[in-house]
Amino acid sequence: MPPTRLTPQHAPEYRALMLEAYAQHPDAFTSSAAERAQLPVAWWEDRLAAGEMPQEIVFGCFTDGVLSGVAGLAFETREKVKHKATLFGMYVPTRHRNLGLGSKLLATALTYARTRPGVLLVQLTVTDGNTAAQSLYERHGFLPFGLEPFAVAVGSGYVSKSHLWCALESLPEYSF
Ligand SMILES: CC(C)(COP(=O)(O)OP(=O)(O)OC[C@H]1O[C@@H](n2cnc3c(N)ncnc32)[C@H](O)[C@@H]1OP(=O)(O)O)[C@@H](O)C(=O)NCCC(=O)NCCS
Repeated sequence: MPPTRLTPQHAPEYRALMLEAYAQHPDAFTSSAAERAQLPVAWWEDRLAAGEMPQEIVFGCFTDGVLSGVAGLAFETREKVKHKATLFGMYVPTRHRNLGLGSKLLATALTYARTRPGVLLVQLTVTDGNTAAQSLYERHGFLPFGLEPFAVAVGSGYVSKSHLWCALESLPEYSF
């Protein structure tokens, strides 16, 4: 089954999957399991709220009726940055990996982003050294444009984050 948009009814299952993600991969996500565990289910329901032009949208895949992967997109509302969307919360649990679910989720998110008027590009960050995720993104057309040192504190140290972007349509030449 292709990935579908999650709805508020999926909030408990989505919450459980993301708390697993934060706990299993503290390097890969900026949110911690502890801080997200404190948020009420209503917070997760809001993230999945219905609407034609949501500020956030989350896609999920289901395997035998169980949520087996997720990816989210956030859209800007401010006038000067509303041409940019951000991919967040990409997670496929170990037991479902290397089956192409991550790839399908990413393709679904990019296809959806292209339907949003005025959105020209999608950005994301990936922890330096997360080669599985970075190679997946690059296969889907993302290009790195910078490395942020000391981006996230993890345990007693810090990790760097690579910033990537993907143009959703042909954009004018731009030097930076
Ligand atoms: C990144 C992630 C979402 C990929 O999900 P997935 O469902 O396994 O992705 P896919 O099956 O579509 O693709 C996996 C591909 O990566 C490749 N791969 C797996 N491990 C790899 C590694 N260490 N280095 C390079 N490539 C790797 C696989 O061979 C596969 O390639 P293929 O499509 O050419 O066969 C998943 O590994 C994950 O949730 N990781 C932990 C959380 C995370 O890092 N999220 C991203 C935060 S930015």
